[in-house]
Amino acid sequence: MADYIPDNLFLQDALTGLAQPQPEIPSKYLYDELGSMLFEAICVTPEYYVTRTDLEILDRHLPDISACIGPRAHVIEFGSGAGVKTSHLLASLEQPAAYTPIEISAAALEASAAHLQRQFPALRIQPLAADYTQPIAPADLDICTDCQTRVVYFPGSTIGNFTLDQARHFLRRIQAIISAFLPEIRGGLLIGIDLLKPLEVLLPAYADPAGVTAAFNKNLLARMNRELGSDFVLSQWSHAARFNSEHQRVEMHMVSERTQQVQLGGQTFSFAAGDSIHTENSHKYSLRGFSEMAARAGLKLEQHWTDANGWFATCYFVPQEPN
Ligand code: TRP
Repeated sequence: MADYIPDNLFLQDALTGLAQPQPEIPSKYLYDELGSMLFEAICVTPEYYVTRTDLEILDRHLPDISACIGPRAHVIEFGSGAGVKTSHLLASLEQPAAYTPIEISAAALEASAAHLQRQFPALRIQPLAADYTQPIAPADLDICTDCQTRVVYFPGSTIGNFTLDQARHFLRRIQAIISAFLPEIRGGLLIGIDLLKPLEVLLPAYADPAGVTAAFNKNLLARMNRELGSDFVLSQWSHAARFNSEHQRVEMHMVSERTQQVQLGGQTFSFAAGDSIHTENSHKYSLRGFSEMAARAGLKLEQHWTDANGWFATCYFVPQEPN
């Protein structure tokens, strides 16, 4: 019999991931329509300081941030979600020229693009439904003839969801995007970085007592049942957030509560009690550590802003002058 070759990328990624010694599912699959809604709900839990603090820093320092970016900017946003922060940013920029939201969830993308277009009728908005971890065709970003700055906006510390290798690679890609039209069009990266902090603050942000984060994580298994026909028994899995100090990251897992087997794509996967499926990483940085990594990708820290607790930093990087 010929080998079974799945034509569905999700199925292929799930089969590959579950076969690893530490089973895993790529985190981008957390964000189907329901997952994106649950993530929005996480953002308003009292324990998830990330979104609140990011927005608070943005609002407090908008005049400064806008001055850094300058007039006639083309804002390219990676993982635009509901677009709340963007609307604050765009409202404060001097004559923003264009906006390209890039988002894997087509539903979230459409809703936020339509909303922002109503708010900014004159702004050229060209949504891009894409997986931003994959290369973007330069033509897809080429919508601006009269802009003065190309700025990539990457809030929420989503960069923390990458491994260090992925983050380095990603920063190099951004550096290339914002340097493409130098010196005529200036470049910038406005990025949110979640800083290292005490575990009493960090862990509840990823395991809120109301169980919103647990529901978000569990939706990944439910989604596999819905879309891939797997038979996860949802009541036999629980959410766990753990700090991995070696890698300086919070890890999200779905933990098997008992010995069980799961069928997926004609294969059987066995789990003992306590075995887990790793679903996400959220790396935490020091400002210095992050700036050093960015420097190796050709980016120079121009300015940064933090909250009173020093929990989060919003950073503006520019392409480094060639030596
Ligand atoms: N970018 C978010 C973060 O790392 C994603 C996130 C928040 C997340 N809570 C989660 C991912 C729980 C998986 C499970 O802060």
